[in-house]
Amino acid sequence: MPDGAAPILEVRDLAAVYRTRDAVVHAVNGVSFTLGRGEVLGLVGESGAGKSAAMLALLGLLPARSASVVGGQVLFDGDDLLRATPERLRRLRGSEFGYVFQDPATSLNPVLSIGHQLAEPLRVHRGLSRRAARAGAAELLALVGIPDPKRRLEQYPHQFSGGQRQRVMIAMALACKPRVLIADEPTTALDVTVQAQILELLRDLRRQLGMAVIWITHDLGVIAGIADRVIVMYAGRIVEQAPVRALFADPRHPYTRALLAALPRPDGPREARLRAIPGQPPRLETLTGDCPFRPRCARAFDRCAGPRPELRPVGPEHRAACHLVPDPAETAHA
Ligand SMILES: Nc1ncnc2c1ncn2[C@@H]1O[C@H](COP(=O)(O)OP(=O)(O)OP(=O)(O)O)[C@@H](O)[C@H]1O
Ligand code: SF4
Ligand SMILES: [Mg+2]
Repeated sequence: MPDGAAPILEVRDLAAVYRTRDAVVHAVNGVSFTLGRGEVLGLVGESGAGKSAAMLALLGLLPARSASVVGGQVLFDGDDLLRATPERLRRLRGSEFGYVFQDPATSLNPVLSIGHQLAEPLRVHRGLSRRAARAGAAELLALVGIPDPKRRLEQYPHQFSGGQRQRVMIAMALACKPRVLIADEPTTALDVTVQAQILELLRDLRRQLGMAVIWITHDLGVIAGIADRVIVMYAGRIVEQAPVRALFADPRHPYTRALLAALPRPDGPREARLRAIPGQPPRLETLTGDCPFRPRCARAFDRCAGPRPELRPVGPEHRAACHLVPDPAETAHA
């Protein structure tokens, strides 16, 4: 977010855990960031990095029986959402926030028609009549590029393809013109043309409504196309955050560099396209106090065995959590 602009959302030191029968999984470990009005923030990181857990945690959407938020603040319009009543959170989720869940089963009810599911929030949260809500639902389907929307409203989720269901979920999340849209892997099942359409749609909404977006993806190519800023997560923490250009031009954390090096190159040989980061992410049940990337880091040196580095400034709005980045506290004392 540009310096000086008031954020719409401010997350401070968010921490959350999953509890399994015999372990506590530290899925989110002190995540802090801001989201500016109308800003698109990309959130990337390998599978299991805690991206979904962090976003679910901030809106009180973690499964109550197996997970909980254990610390932090989430400031929205001066309110701490982590301390809001369940009723207020529900209302905010229906009006100010839109959420595209990674798991489609979470959002679409198989026994209700798509028209019913799209019209319901318009009636409940925007107070539209049954007829107006129906028309609004058809408009939303058209907006996300589903042909013949009036007829499709009568159909049920199983009559839509995977990519179409994903578009319906995006339509649902946009139904109430949210101020913040959180989209978790929203374009994985979409072909490139539809993906481009959805991204264009989001750009429009952002212009028209000033909607801010948090976009979670494994696809750094998509991030390069739509994000203003990028957060890179590893083992439940932010390891680097930067304006999108700076991240691609001058990645500072060895993990970010490895992610970028693993990017598919359409012109490259097949092995290059299949390159993955060697090694495994750490177990979140048994995190130690040193840098979580150390076992996989080609640039690790003696200091890396010591306490984990916090995020340090490396440029305008650019920070990285790595001992290779000079610690400003030490520089000041030198
Ligand atoms: N229901 C659950 N019970 C126990 N642990 C879980 C549960 N869901 C997620 N986790 C653990 O929490 C950690 C963070 O998971 P999360 O779903 O946030 O990852 P992610 O970054 O969204 O990954 P992906 O890219 O695969 O969606 C992982 O180590 C995962 O194994
Ligand atoms: S702190 Fe050390 S081990 Fe961790 S990413 Fe930086 S160089 Fe690698
Ligand atoms: Mg996820």
